[in-house]
Amino acid sequence: MPPSMEIAVLLLGVLGLEMRWSASALHIQQAFASPNLTNNFVVDPVSRKVYLATVNTVYQLNGTLSVEVEKRTGPVEDNLLCHAPQLPQAPCEHPKSLTDNYNKLLKLDREQGVVVVCGSVYQGFCELRRMGNISEIAVEFPPQGEKTVFPSMLNIAANHPNASTVGLIFKSHGGNTRLLVGTTYTGAGTQFFPKNHSKEDLRFENTPEIAIRSLNIKDLSRLFTYDINPSEDNVFKIKQEVKTKNKLNFVHAFIQKTYSYIAFNNDAKMGHKESQPNSILARICLDSDSPRKTTGPESRKLTESYIQMPLQCGSTGNIYNRLLSVYPAEVHAEGGWEPYLFGVFSKADRKAALCAFKFGDIEEEIRQGRRNCSNSPSSDVQVLDSVIQGSGAVCIQKGNLVLQPEQLDCGAAHLQHPLALRRSLKALPLFEYPALSSVSVDTVHNHAVVFLGTSNGRLHKVRHTAMALRNLDFPSSRSEKRKECLLRLEFCLGTSELAAEVQFSE
Ligand SMILES: *[C@@H]1O[C@H](CO)[C@@H](O)[C@H](O)[C@H]1NC(C)=O
Ligand SMILES: *[C@@H]1O[C@H](CO)[C@@H](O)[C@H](O)[C@H]1NC(C)=O
Ligand SMILES: *[C@@H]1O[C@H](CO)[C@@H](O)[C@H](O)[C@H]1NC(C)=O
Ligand SMILES: *[C@@H]1O[C@H](CO)[C@@H](O)[C@H](O)[C@H]1NC(C)=O
Ligand SMILES: *[C@@H]1O[C@H](CO)[C@@H](O)[C@H](O)[C@H]1NC(C)=O
Ligand SMILES: *[C@@H]1O[C@H](CO)[C@@H](O)[C@H](O)[C@H]1NC(C)=O
Repeated sequence: MPPSMEIAVLLLGVLGLEMRWSASALHIQQAFASPNLTNNFVVDPVSRKVYLATVNTVYQLNGTLSVEVEKRTGPVEDNLLCHAPQLPQAPCEHPKSLTDNYNKLLKLDREQGVVVVCGSVYQGFCELRRMGNISEIAVEFPPQGEKTVFPSMLNIAANHPNASTVGLIFKSHGGNTRLLVGTTYTGAGTQFFPKNHSKEDLRFENTPEIAIRSLNIKDLSRLFTYDINPSEDNVFKIKQEVKTKNKLNFVHAFIQKTYSYIAFNNDAKMGHKESQPNSILARICLDSDSPRKTTGPESRKLTESYIQMPLQCGSTGNIYNRLLSVYPAEVHAEGGWEPYLFGVFSKADRKAALCAFKFGDIEEEIRQGRRNCSNSPSSDVQVLDSVIQGSGAVCIQKGNLVLQPEQLDCGAAHLQHPLALRRSLKALPLFEYPALSSVSVDTVHNHAVVFLGTSNGRLHKVRHTAMALRNLDFPSSRSEKRKECLLRLEFCLGTSELAAEVQFSE
């Protein structure tokens, strides 16, 4: 469960200057409390409106958190074993009952003026709501009278409250809007599927763990399909026979440069390898800019550029092996601005830690891995044979092939793909504390201010370095800056926040 689900209050506070002198680090300016569990929220960077989704309701709040619109999304008559009612001619013999609608995905697409809202009911079906008034459906989907609707266009988010879903919206080369979704498989044989093997598994045929779907609202017949070009090109699907060894629990998907990163845990490995990291960072090239000259637009397969590596927070004997939250941020280090990936990791005893990985190191590791895979059999890099597209599961020498920079970063059709690096990217904890659950980073006067949410509902503040804290200062338009600082916090849903300052001296 993402950490934001544990809490139900949206706080809009300020990081007060009082921080230096008093015990209260955060002052609540405005607050919004929803009766039901908060699942997701998104802040419109231009209008400052906040879209917030809870179990059974979506809200549109203004910049100071007053409710503008409120729309119920559940409970609805549903059964996990029935197709979405939006599928034409799909009667269901299983009895339906009132089912709570957990929001699984909430994404703002400013350009098309829609909010993508996907819930756990109706097989993880998505709606496109109007950005200006979230209670209105912007695009009727499937269109009235449409006969050619497939389950794959409806089964998008996880259909279970406890199964993970992450996503992001991007524009592909050619200007088409796309929705990338990563979601835990919930079909037969998983903990999420009703224990009755005689029942048909609706998630079986059409549930890739990762998919890139069309989100172009001008092309309604293709909306939400991954059949954009040959459909195999836009899906990453774990083979049925190894699903039990690959229980992916998605944490976050985000864009950095022209790459999409997806962070997840493999829960299948949690039990028996307590001391091993189970956290994985995967990268996909988005084809958003730089059209490739050799081939037409949108020709790159998702799995062609896919590469993953384990992330390790902690050192041997003291490894925090489960990723809870990540946040990419630019940090001012000695050599200038440097992008880092911050992550909160936990281990079995509820202890947690903050680690930071340099994106430069991630990129270099990927280039080395591809170079090694095309040069020789290597024990450090493998073709990921757990996915349908991962054929020829070894790296073999390809003559005297010298890969171009673009190929080192994003692969190519004639190379083995997708790839998995074996060696973890390692970082030592910057900070250790019990029950940390989320991280967000902001920069104030060249200092990275790291906000850490905790799951136990207490308000904490830690001064990591007193010297650094003294530099925390807000220039002229003080209140604006502070507000922005907290609006950008991805976990400001927390009932508790903890602010620490991290100094980078490299
Ligand atoms: C909260 O969820 C309950 C079921 O758990 C539901 O009956 C109720 O209508 C929901 N309330 C709101 C405001 O969404
Ligand atoms: C939000 O709405 C409230 C109540 O209508 C109003 O007082 C407040 O000024 C509004 N805030 C913004 C930022 O528009
Ligand atoms: C939003 O749309 C609903 C339904 O059309 C309407 O009743 C409501 O007044 C609208 N609210 C706002 C703030 O525009
Ligand atoms: C989801 O997980 C929680 C905590 O592990 C558990 O209490 C709850 O019963 C689960 N919900 C469902 C529908 O399985
Ligand atoms: C399992 O499914 C079959 C076929 O739908 C049904 O007849 C049977 O009662 C179900 N068993 C349970 C325990 O739900
Ligand atoms: C690639 O190979 C070199 C030389 O054998 C090795 O030092 C390096 O660790 C390898 N890197 C990866 C990511 O496989």
